[in-house]
Amino acid sequence: MTGRVFAVASGKGGVGKTTTAVNAAAAMAEAGRSVVLVDYDLGMANVGAVLDVEQADATLHDVLAGEADAMDAVAEAPGGFDVMVGGTDIEDFGRADPSKLRDVAGELREKYDVVIVDTGGGLSHDTTVPLGLADDTVLVSTPQVAALENTEKTLELVERVGGSVAGLVLTRVGASDVNTDEAVDAMDVDVLGTVPEDSTVAASEEAGEPLLEYAPESPAGQSYRELGYELLGESPPVSFRDGDGEESAAANAALSEMVDDSGDGGSRSLLSRVTGGLLGSNGNK
Ligand SMILES: Nc1ncnc2c1ncn2[C@@H]1O[C@H](COP(=O)(O)OP(=O)(O)OP(=O)(O)O)[C@@H](O)[C@H]1O
Ligand SMILES: [Mg+2]
Repeated sequence: MTGRVFAVASGKGGVGKTTTAVNAAAAMAEAGRSVVLVDYDLGMANVGAVLDVEQADATLHDVLAGEADAMDAVAEAPGGFDVMVGGTDIEDFGRADPSKLRDVAGELREKYDVVIVDTGGGLSHDTTVPLGLADDTVLVSTPQVAALENTEKTLELVERVGGSVAGLVLTRVGASDVNTDEAVDAMDVDVLGTVPEDSTVAASEEAGEPLLEYAPESPAGQSYRELGYELLGESPPVSFRDGDGEESAAANAALSEMVDDSGDGGSRSLLSRVTGGLLGSNGNK
């Protein structure tokens, strides 16, 4: 198996990288992928602070110091994916060799469908390592002019280190009413998704669970589910709003299979695709 490696990065700190990494991981796990999330912020614990992860035998720092095997530092997280967290001692920082991350990612992609690397802030050799080795970097920004300007710089940086940008996730949209549509349009980047400002985010982090576990129907949770499918290049299953549980999950699966099978790139209406063209296709050219 050769899994895909994503790095999650931003120009400005505190814009929602870790939130995005955690919830994209949960969304891809929900979509049936095996996922590991690597907390690559060598100075500060990020993922471990917002997810109730079991303690592994080793930390990412041990692995980057050549003192442990990658799989010994992996533990299960709520949400159906695995996590590799860093050490929290100050001396851990000095032991870790960032350039070893390439080998770690190489090893993990043999075992998982998806490897997501959450990165820390700032610009240094350490922080650019994941950008150069990932198949795709997901940029995260809030819709604020200063944050977007920094995103643009990060975009250039990714290209400079030989990486490639999957696109931009706009987070905390609606928190202020500054209109940044033009600034975003002017950037040479695809918008992969937008996540609304949602107080459920903080509540889920407090609970140590991904949003998709804690409050799957929350506005931000829904957005992250869509983002997960977008990153996988799939369309989300059709959601039956009235009802949950196994029955509707099975119905969803059957329905999305029918939609997928139509194979005509979505040019027909959903109703027409589901009914095989018996209804609703001809009336609305
Ligand atoms: N959609 C959202 N709605 C409301 N609050 C949010 C949203 N996304 C993130 N936050 C909050 O913003 C803060 C920063 O988020 P997060 O830790 O994900 O950012 P980060 O980019 O990883 O930060 P750092 O650069 O410090 O690693 C957190 O308190 C989080 O709860
Ligand atoms: Mg973070």
